[in-house]
Amino acid sequence: MGTGDKKVTMRAWAYTSRGAPGAVLKLRTDLPRPTPAELHADEVIVKVSYVALDQGQSVIIRVFPHFNSKPWYPGLDFSGIVEAVGSNVTHVQPGDPVFGSPDPKVLLKWGHKYNGMLVEHAFLPAAQVVRKPPNISLASASTLATNGCTAFQFIDLVNMKQGDRVLITGASGGLGTLMVQVVRSVVGKEGTIIGTCSAPNEELVKKLGADEVIDYRAHPVLNEYLTSKYSTNPFDSIIDIAGADDQLYDKSPAYLKPDGAYLIGGKMSITHGSGGFLQILSWALRFYSKAFLPRFLGGTPRKGFFHSANVIPEDIVRTAALVEAGQLTGTIDTEYAMEDALKAFEGTARGRARGKFIVNVQNHSD
Ligand SMILES: NC(=O)c1ccc[n+]([C@@H]2O[C@H](COP(=O)([O-])OP(=O)(O)OC[C@H]3O[C@@H](n4cnc5c(N)ncnc54)[C@H](OP(=O)(O)O)[C@@H]3O)[C@@H](O)[C@H]2O)c1
Repeated sequence: MGTGDKKVTMRAWAYTSRGAPGAVLKLRTDLPRPTPAELHADEVIVKVSYVALDQGQSVIIRVFPHFNSKPWYPGLDFSGIVEAVGSNVTHVQPGDPVFGSPDPKVLLKWGHKYNGMLVEHAFLPAAQVVRKPPNISLASASTLATNGCTAFQFIDLVNMKQGDRVLITGASGGLGTLMVQVVRSVVGKEGTIIGTCSAPNEELVKKLGADEVIDYRAHPVLNEYLTSKYSTNPFDSIIDIAGADDQLYDKSPAYLKPDGAYLIGGKMSITHGSGGFLQILSWALRFYSKAFLPRFLGGTPRKGFFHSANVIPEDIVRTAALVEAGQLTGTIDTEYAMEDALKAFEGTARGRARGKFIVNVQNHSD
């Protein structure tokens, strides 16, 4: 059946009510396949090859209300092949292998035509789609967009520069594996990267660019270990991805330079646990009071940031350029067939990923 036929359907994971992914997500075969006739001038249609999952998606499915029309499709980061382009689109053409990630904020603006990526074919704003560098597979490219943007925005915020000493917690996960590589590209050979993860992932994190690895299970109170080991050689910045030590920022004057910066990207006990909106709010209030109050009122005398990344075209392009320069690659924990996507959600929820869990949407070999 061609795309011009009346009722062309596709397979897609979809949900119509909030809840745990395993309870509400259904693999449907009756959902409408996008057709070129509906294409907006600034949109493309992509045949989706791979989708890389993140735990943030599960939180959205479980916790947040949705305002656009049902059903909703989960999944953000993807790779695939361009099938059709709108009349204003020039940077990609049909047949091009691409990767990217829809911007959830545009999702609301463009309503029903703009949705998640765990579908066989998808509409996307063209700006969110970048040509895949030739030196990376489609599977690997699916892991890059959101976490690449996140890594670049984090290093910009903390004003990272060549030669810096940087601590990265959660260095072996989906975000951490990209963070280590992007940080290395900025601090260069003169810089120092120390990552935290469990001992079995030490080799991976060092291969990606860390100089030293701290096994968080051998040093369960990280701030105490850092105080004992690094107070005479403090960090320029701390990128806290795991968010496992509630005192890491409060105690940072012992191991972070006076003009250094602490940035927290997440708190895994909330994102990977069953925490709800109130838990997120009380954590945020505590963090911001430490970051903004003067010291005599309990504030921490070091710059402190929380940032939730925006998936913007400029940073997807920066990510692609770093791949092309041979300085960045994706790390895949496990690949699942489209029918087994729920297993990928389960894997992501465990918080022990080595890189990313990905779904092979068309069940093809790369
Ligand atoms: N702010 C943003 O824009 C943004 C963007 C992306 C992600 N995030 C957040 O970042 C956090 C991590 O996300 P992710 O996708 O990278 O998770 P992930 O893929 O599940 O990875 C988690 C990693 O953290 C490690 N880990 C677990 N407990 C740890 C601890 N106590 N200390 C150090 N490492 C620990 C695990 O290593 P082992 O297996 O070795 O234990 C695992 O490799 C989440 O809270 C997520 O929401 C934020």
